[in-house]
Amino acid sequence: QLTPERFAFQLAARARRAHARIVLPEGEDDRILTAAAHLAGRGLVHPIVLGERDAVAGRLAALGLPADGLEIVDPATSPLHEELAAALHRARAHKGMTEAQAAELVRDPTWFGVLLVHTGHADGMVSGAAHTTADTIRPALQVIGTRDGVRTVSSAFLMCLPDRVLVYGDCAVIPQPTPAQLAEIAAGSAATARAFGLDPRVAMLSYSTGASGSGQAVEQVREATGLARALAPDVPIEGPIQYDAASNVRIGSGKLPGSPVAGHATVYVFPDLNTGNTTYKAVQQSSGAVAIGPVLQGLRRPVNDLSRGCTVDDVVNTILATAVQAGEGKDA
Ligand code: ACO
Repeated sequence: QLTPERFAFQLAARARRAHARIVLPEGEDDRILTAAAHLAGRGLVHPIVLGERDAVAGRLAALGLPADGLEIVDPATSPLHEELAAALHRARAHKGMTEAQAAELVRDPTWFGVLLVHTGHADGMVSGAAHTTADTIRPALQVIGTRDGVRTVSSAFLMCLPDRVLVYGDCAVIPQPTPAQLAEIAAGSAATARAFGLDPRVAMLSYSTGASGSGQAVEQVREATGLARALAPDVPIEGPIQYDAASNVRIGSGKLPGSPVAGHATVYVFPDLNTGNTTYKAVQQSSGAVAIGPVLQGLRRPVNDLSRGCTVDDVVNTILATAVQAGEGKDA
């Protein structure tokens, strides 16, 4: 089992090794600037902060933060504007986007940031402290797109409980996944677990364990389990299974004797977004667990979303997680 302390150490070490340039479009938000200055100061990432140069410098000075190690880029005056507008037009012309529309959209910091990542001027992006999930994710879906062999972008939280770290997916993106999408969520969450140093043992959650219950929702999870095993044959995947049978050794061995997952699951795949989003928040609020994410999985290059209520620690963790994902891409 990976402890939260060991996980935090590994997160920083993996991020440092990645040497990632992470673009932060919300450069006039104090939480973003504080996190960026802290990470640059420790040499963990190279932050590219977007915003009007004087405004960003003014906020840094007011906060008493050093500007060393921060690259400040103003989308309104950047010499990259033409290159990025052309890249956006190439990516979206088939959907009817004109050159003029592309040139206008690139002035928007979120689009500018996504395009820096798309064109390789940055390795990843973190945004969402002042924008909705949809506003942050949609440009990434439209321009960066999915990795080869992946059709569905989904998300996972790295749940740092007092004594262990678990992966929960999908708690942020797909409201009502089909069995095929649920299988992709399972395979993607297993890959995310590996990228962050966890050994994946995947539980496909339901209100039924094994053959104990029936119903359409259970059958969907059963179908998804078969598809997930085909997608990730080297990963132990069990389903349908209830949360207690997945997490508790005594209950798991009683309900599904011999299962390598029952009682030992590290990756929990929820049947739909109502369940996943509610459960991660319930665990976070009632146990004091630190939830890192949502980390998007399946994108060609990493883009991650913050919640508008995020703290500086949340921003720091999300930037580190993005750097780790960027490093993984470089290794591949
Ligand atoms: N995987 C891959 N591609 C996708 C996905 C996906 N999951 N979803 C949409 N796309 C593609 C579409 O095919 C489309 O591609 P195209 O334009 O090239 O044809 C493009 O992305 C944009 O599609 P839209 O239909 O405009 O996007 P949509 O309106 O479906 O928005 C979004 C996608 C924003 C992720 C949506 O699914 C959503 O709002 N999900 C819920 C988000 C949410 O509210 N989460 C809870 C809060 S988060 C939290 O609590 C931490």
